[in-house]
Amino acid sequence: MSVTIKSADDIQRMRVAGRLASEVLDFIEPHVRPNVTTDALDRLCHDYMVGVQKTIPAPLHYAPPGYTPYPRSICTSVNHVVCHGVPGDKRLKAGDVVNVDITVIKDGFHGDTSRMFMVGEPSIQARRLSEVTFDCMWRGIRTVKPGAFLGDIGQVIQTLAESSGYSVVREFCGHGIGRKFHEEPQVLHYGRAGSGLKLQAGMTFTIEPMINAGKPGIRQLADGWTIVTKDHSLSAQWEHTVLVTNEGFEVLTLSAGAPPAPPA
Ligand code: MF3
Ligand code: CO
Ligand code: CO
Repeated sequence: MSVTIKSADDIQRMRVAGRLASEVLDFIEPHVRPNVTTDALDRLCHDYMVGVQKTIPAPLHYAPPGYTPYPRSICTSVNHVVCHGVPGDKRLKAGDVVNVDITVIKDGFHGDTSRMFMVGEPSIQARRLSEVTFDCMWRGIRTVKPGAFLGDIGQVIQTLAESSGYSVVREFCGHGIGRKFHEEPQVLHYGRAGSGLKLQAGMTFTIEPMINAGKPGIRQLADGWTIVTKDHSLSAQWEHTVLVTNEGFEVLTLSAGAPPAPPA
């Protein structure tokens, strides 16, 4: 399958799915507190998606080739967990930083977004890593327009991350999204300006940089899902789903509680 161009009708449904995904993050934010288990966060989000929004949690039982079915409805990636952290009975504690990643399906279309949350008071280093990663995501988003290249996105993200003393995870990337959770193209968070696919209006994809405080290497845990930094350094991630418009971009995963874009 190649890159899909969304129709006006598809785009309208993507807007709804995107806003709903972001609203799950708004809903869960006050619950991300010391002593809560990530399983409790999963249960709260699951019940909100299924019971209130009437959305389908896309991660639940998701099984790409080579993976066992994902056992939860959200991903919770704490501290040195890079991505795909599986909720469990471990309790969050003050000083933890956690990425919550939500993907919902509404009316056949996916919305995919994640944010970092601080539990209690984070270290200065953890806060800075999260802020730089947020800025990396937004620099990537702001390069999106028809005629730009995927490599332009990768380059601006890599440049900011590395000039801040951090490293970019190579093994996971953003992705086309629509009727399928993961569509073409792959959206790398590193690379060279002018390389790769040329963007066209109507494309929808995620930008979701994973940035490590230490070295870029990762390791997969025995559960088959959880990805951690090999050197156990902190890792951060933010994710939005974006649409390429005639004028530039539209972020589809915004809601009342989404942090505002940083100053340009
Ligand atoms: N939401 C993740 C992404 O941004 C994918 C999670 S797959 C899951 O692409 F099965 F772990 F949920
Ligand atoms: Co994604
Ligand atoms: Co996601």
